[in-house]
Amino acid sequence: MKKKVVLAYSGGLDTSVAIRWMIEEWGVEVVAVLVDVGQDPAGSESFEQIQARALAAGASACVVVDARDEMAEEFCAPAIAANALYEGRYPLVSALSRPVIVRHLVDQARRHDATAVAHGCTGKGNDQVRFEVGVHALAPDLEVLAPARNWGLTRADSVDVAHKWEIPITATREKIYSIDENLWGRAIECGAMEDPWAAPPEEPFTLTRVRTGDPVEVVVGFHAGVPVALDGEPLALAALIARLNALAGATGFGRLDMVENRRVGIKSREVYECPAALALIGAHQDLEGLVLERDLAHEKRRLETRWAELVYDGLWFSPLKEALDAFIDETQRHVTGEVRLTFSPPGVLAISGRRGPAALYDYGLATYEAADTFRHADSEGFVRIYGLGVRTWAQRQGAKNATPRRSSP
Ligand code: ARG
Repeated sequence: MKKKVVLAYSGGLDTSVAIRWMIEEWGVEVVAVLVDVGQDPAGSESFEQIQARALAAGASACVVVDARDEMAEEFCAPAIAANALYEGRYPLVSALSRPVIVRHLVDQARRHDATAVAHGCTGKGNDQVRFEVGVHALAPDLEVLAPARNWGLTRADSVDVAHKWEIPITATREKIYSIDENLWGRAIECGAMEDPWAAPPEEPFTLTRVRTGDPVEVVVGFHAGVPVALDGEPLALAALIARLNALAGATGFGRLDMVENRRVGIKSREVYECPAALALIGAHQDLEGLVLERDLAHEKRRLETRWAELVYDGLWFSPLKEALDAFIDETQRHVTGEVRLTFSPPGVLAISGRRGPAALYDYGLATYEAADTFRHADSEGFVRIYGLGVRTWAQRQGAKNATPRRSSP
């Protein structure tokens, strides 16, 4: 019996070539699995067309799984709760979709009695790490194959073999961008952007193409840390994200251009467009500012950094990530309320209001007006004792720090 392999299939050039390559080189049977995580929202190609391509390449079957709600509710929602920004900036667009795909790969491997799963990643990126570590976290018995790490084909070579094998591809030798997309955003690599000094060309952007027009205001409603409404209208999270991508993207908001540190040690120039992700994380951080107690908020910030690193590094399914999730869940109980966002072209977001039933903001304590309830006299003793250590230190130092570096003549 032939070895059966379940391949994470995108419909793109590399995974299409991978089907035929594995059949020719390794003599295996390939079941292609296309997981819909909200890529290609414009629907430039139908799933039927993509399935036909997999079969033309030699797959024995091509299964399409709709995982959009799962991606939104089980992966984007925790990322929002964690304010997850890798290296303080990147909202983990690709990193969040890989564990969703991994789950379905393993599920399909079981359904088809396959002994191996495969992905189309090369040896230079993070996604190979996310696929392999993820699969082994869920199914230690499954073998993971990575044909693109073995074949040594350039992108142009892949185009040529696809033509030779008569696989109907849309990629050409000239289409040079590598784009990964899902409902959380788009990651754009290659082409002129491989020079970190070169400004990115306009061409590959889709969500943030329009850069002019009037400012747009929207109110995001949260319940226990999860976005649940736009301008008071309740929406499922996947729909809310899609709508916010369109609305904010149409003001040019959501572009990100950075050099990031990959898990495999390579510095990489990355260009992203992720309007909803950045807006929702910004809004969520802001609402937490209103409702979280100070020590809890500060400790959470530290752990958020770790959470984002773990997810970036392919450790979605791992004991530390699970433990951090439990902590973050606990912090979200009171993160309910509304945040007002104003998007001004080209690409500026201002957060101009926040409110919530569990706000710790106390007008009486904060105000400088007559309604003031704060006991001013208490501060005298507090500040004296608070500063006592520094004062003692200063007395020993003498006047050393008291002379301005440049005194005026
Ligand atoms: N550098 C980003 C990440 O590691 C984006 C990766 C995009 N993946 C791709 N196959 N083009 O999350």
